[in-house]
Parts: sequence; structure tokens; C-alpha cells
Amino acid sequence: MQSTPAYIVNGGKPLNGSVKVSGAKNAATKQLVASLLTDETVVLGNVPQIGDVAATIELLRGLGVGINQSADEITINPHTIKNGDVVSAFSRKNRIPILLIGPLLHRFGEAKIPMLGGCKIGARPIDIHLDGFKQMGAQIECDGNCYTIKSKQLKAAMIELPFPSVGATENLMLAAVKAKGTTTIANAAIEPEIMDTAKLLQSMGAIINLEANRTWVIEGVKHLKGAEHQVLPDRIEAASFGIAAAITGGQVLVEGACQDHLLSFLNALRRVGVPFTIKSDGIVFGSASNYKPITLETDVHPGFMTDWQQPFVMLLTQADGVSIVHETIFEDRFGYTQSLNNMGAKIQLHSDCLGSKECRYKHQNYLHSCIIVGPTPLKASDIEIPDLRAGFSYILAALMADGRSKVTGVEHVERGYEDIIEKLKNLGADIAVA
Ligand code: EPZ
Repeated sequence: MQSTPAYIVNGGKPLNGSVKVSGAKNAATKQLVASLLTDETVVLGNVPQIGDVAATIELLRGLGVGINQSADEITINPHTIKNGDVVSAFSRKNRIPILLIGPLLHRFGEAKIPMLGGCKIGARPIDIHLDGFKQMGAQIECDGNCYTIKSKQLKAAMIELPFPSVGATENLMLAAVKAKGTTTIANAAIEPEIMDTAKLLQSMGAIINLEANRTWVIEGVKHLKGAEHQVLPDRIEAASFGIAAAITGGQVLVEGACQDHLLSFLNALRRVGVPFTIKSDGIVFGSASNYKPITLETDVHPGFMTDWQQPFVMLLTQADGVSIVHETIFEDRFGYTQSLNNMGAKIQLHSDCLGSKECRYKHQNYLHSCIIVGPTPLKASDIEIPDLRAGFSYILAALMADGRSKVTGVEHVERGYEDIIEKLKNLGADIAVA
């Protein structure tokens, strides 16, 4: 993994060839934590070598967990874990520590979790997580720096989430697999990465099922065993490279891109007029001379995911006419568009719900919708990446713009994209580390 201050991009070159998609960040990091639910060895394959995985490994090692890493395979030996105190050094780094609550409670009856970090795309409260744990019988205190959660034996509960939060669903799932009795988590998230983690848990001996209406039903068991598991491919990375082909006028086979996980993304591409072909080993994304504007709303799975929004907005800056994007998951996920406007894009932010549905942010003055007028050529520029997904979108902007751009803040992108420089270079991009 690189860790460098800037990328220099000479844009205007089409991307062509093939690129292999890595394992999904948002499954691998959670599965590292899930491994703590057993005392036996867990082996995870297809793990991406990215900043968030490195941070998660550091966090688990800090607890005393034995971890060996060899290329994309990670072997976790949790039996050496010492205690349930996640040190404050991990405060505000990412969102992984909160997922340790269940595994640590099952081991020690107590977990100390620091305040969370992660991309600054909204307030990102954790009330849904904590309410779920309270329903399972846990006592929770917060002193402003740290949450202390206690429970000698988590008990099953019938939990209905007020919103299908990805993190809360995963958190309660990791707690429920060893709780006493059968837990239901209704109105839950059902993202492919969560399904993949459920598959790991089942291999470990959990009894876990997805039933109608987004409801996970989990029968607690006393003991989980070791397992081997391959992390699913990263559908965000796959979509990012698909759009890179489309906006640079190239053609790219994204090896390992999985149609099942990309249905709503591919539908949106089709409406815009980006050609793609499904192959046995991946998806070929092409380009066209004209793109059509569309209206798009982000949603929980199986809707159009919020992490595709940023590269897709880049694509819509090249569509011929007025596009609308309504972000319904995070209230503050359009801040990155200001720098794109400085490069020549025409993106206007609005606080109204501009799509067909009303979302939680109606009448709340959050700039969570945007109008994009295209097509607009972009001029090369120096840009500072504010967060992970906006980061790929800035790299796309630099790849498209004629001339030399300097992109800083690249550590955000390296948290989530493996070998990004090498992968882009292999496709013909003129990109280098400064
Ligand atoms: C996960 O974040 C992902 N992160 C995000 O990807 C992704 O954008 C998001 O899910 C939605 O798909 C990881 O998996 C590490 P949520 P998470 O809980 O779990 C509100 C990336 O770039 N909410 O589904 O934090 C929350 O404020 C990252 O890889 C509450 O109100 O997302 C948000 O508006 C960025 N209370 C909405 O729900 C809660 O207790 C969705 O959040 C929890 C969430």
C-alpha cells in the first residue's frame, strides 16, 4: 500500500485494457472483527491491501489478536486477545471500533469503545446501534471520550431499526449470533457486503437467515468455530473503474465485477447511454460520444448506493442537458462538488428533495440534492481530496481534464482503493506519485 502526499495527473488520455477488482473494503474490515467471535483460526482470502484494512489489523493487534498477513490472505488467531478496551489511540480514525461491541461483550462482558471517525459526510450518529444493544440488555455509558458497554450475557430481542443502517445491522448481527435466544432485526440493511459477512458467520457455525421484508433472523449459538472465507469483490471499485472508462472515452474490462451487485448502477449507466457488456469474468465498460442526462436518487440496497454517487456525478457533468441527483442516505455528501465547479463543472446544490421521493432530510436545510448542467469540459487544477469516495471522483476529474492536475489528500483514497496508481497506469493513465 502506498502512503504518499500527492498524485500528479496529466489528463485527457482514454483508459483501455483490463483491471482486476479487489476484495470489498466494507466486507473485509467487518469480517476481521467477526473473526473475534471464535477462539479458533479464521482465514480470510481476497482481502484488499488498503489503509482501512491496515488500521483494522492494527486495532485488533492492539487487543492482543494474532494476525498474519500474506498478500491478500489474512489469518486471524483471536484466542490471544487480552481485554475489551479499545485504546483511545483509535479514537476518531474510522468506524470499525463500534463493531467490536458484540465480540468483546461475549468474551469479557464489557467493551470500551472510543469515539468514531470516518468520512465527514454527515453527523453519523450511532443511536440505532446503541438502542439495539439496550434492547439486548446491555448497559451503556459515555464519558465524552469513550463508550463503556456492559453485559454478562446478551439476550435475544425483536429489534426494528428506524432506518436500515449498514453499520447498525452488522453490529447487532455480530452480537446476536452468540446471544441467548433468537433475535430478529427488522427493517435492516441487506447490502451484499452484509450478506457476505453473514456467509462467513454461517461458516463459523452461526444460524442466520435473511427473511422477507429486510428481516434478519438469528438463532444464538454458544460456540463458533474457525472458518475460511473469500471476501466478495468490491462493487464500489468496480463502478469507479466503469465510469473511468466512460468519461475518458475508453473501454475497460473490470475483472471480477459482479452483475448481481451492480444491478441499479448498470441500469443508471444504461439510461445515460454508457455501453457495457456482461462477460463470464467481469463486465466490459465502454464509452460513447454523447451521454443523456438523468434523475438519480441514492438509496439503501438494492437501490443506487450512496458510494456510487460521487463518480456518477462526474459522469453526469458530461451528459448533454440537466441531470438531478438526490442523496437520501447522508445529509452532507455533496461538499466535494465545489472543487469540481472550480474546474469548470456546473453543479448547483439544493436543500429540497429534488427526486421523486421525500427523504429524512426534507425541510431541514441540508444541501442534499444537486442539479448538474452538462456537458462541461474540465480544466486541470490542484485539488485537495476531502473524503474517500469524493477522492476517486477528483482523480476522475483530473484524468478527464486536459493538462496537469495535482491531487492532494490521497491518503483518503488509499484507505479504500488498492494499488490505485498501478491499476490506473496499466490502463494507460498518466498518473504518478509526487
Ligand atoms: C457504511 O457506513 C459504509 N461504511 C459507508 O461507506 C456507506 O456509504 C454506508 O454504509 C451506506 O451504504 C462502512 O461500511 C465502513 P449507515 P455506515 O449506518 O455503516 C444514519 C465508504 O466510503 N444512521 O448505513 O456508517 C447515518 O447518519 C463509506 O466506504 C443514524 O442515524 O452507514 C446515515 O445518514 C462511506 N443512526 C444513514 O443512517 C445510526 O445509529 C446510513 O448510515 C446509524 C446510522
